[in-house]
Amino acid sequence: MNNEKIFSIAIDGPCGAGKSSVADDAAKRLNILHLDTGAMYRAVGLYMLENEIDIHNPDEVKAHMDEVKIDVAFENGIQKTYLCGRDVSSLIRTQEAGDAASAVSKGAYVREKMVLKQREIAKGMSILMDGRDAGTCILPDATLKIYLTADVHERARRRYDERVQKGEACVFDDVLKECIERDHNDMNREVSPLIQAEDAVVVDSTHMTQAEVVDRIIALLKERLEA
Ligand code: DC
Repeated sequence: MNNEKIFSIAIDGPCGAGKSSVADDAAKRLNILHLDTGAMYRAVGLYMLENEIDIHNPDEVKAHMDEVKIDVAFENGIQKTYLCGRDVSSLIRTQEAGDAASAVSKGAYVREKMVLKQREIAKGMSILMDGRDAGTCILPDATLKIYLTADVHERARRRYDERVQKGEACVFDDVLKECIERDHNDMNREVSPLIQAEDAVVVDSTHMTQAEVVDRIIALLKERLEA
C-alpha cells in the first residue's frame, strides 16, 4: 500500500495470539517498521536474571534499572535488541526470559522507562507496535488499534507446536498452564494491565490463518486512512 501519511498501528493481546508473526507480516506488506515491545521487557528480565536480582521485588528491580541500557536497531527491517551494547535478540527468546519479562513489567518504573523509549523510537515515522499496552498507553492516538486474541487452548496449541518443531521436549498441559498464568499476570497487574482499548478492533484468530488476520488488518487500516 502506498501512503504518504504517517500512520501507526498498535496490536495488543494475550500471549500466543500470534501478534509477533502477524505484526512482522503486516509491517513488511506496508513497508514500515515493526517494534516488538515485548523484546524490550524480555531484555530487562534477562538482565535481572543474569545479575541474580529478585525479579519479583519491584524495589530491587527499580534499584538496578539505571544499569540497564536497552536499545533496538533495525537491520534490513528486522529488529535487533541490545542490552548494554550486547545483541541479546536470541537470548531473550527463552521461556525464562519471557517469565522474567512478565514479572519485571509489573513495575511502574520499568514501564515508564520502556514507554519513553518506545515513543522515542516511533517519533516521526509510520510504525507498527505489538505488545500489551501499545494501544492503551504507548500510542493512544494510533491510527488503528487491534486487540488480537484467540481461545487459550488454541494459543497453547500453537505454542506447543512451535516448541515441538524446534525440537524442544514439552507437555501440552504445561504449556496451557503457562499461558493461563501469563494471561493472569499480564491482565491483573496494577500498572497498564493488558486490556482491550475502547477504540480497538477485536480480531479473534482462533479460526483464522495468519494471512487472513494480516489481510483484515490491512483492510482496516485502508479504511481508516481513507476515512
Ligand atoms: O510479547 P512477549 O511474550 O514477548 O512479552 C513478554 C512479557 O513482557 C509479557 O508477558 C508482558 C510484558 N510486556 C508488557 O508488559 N508490555 C508490553 N508492551 C509488551 C510485553
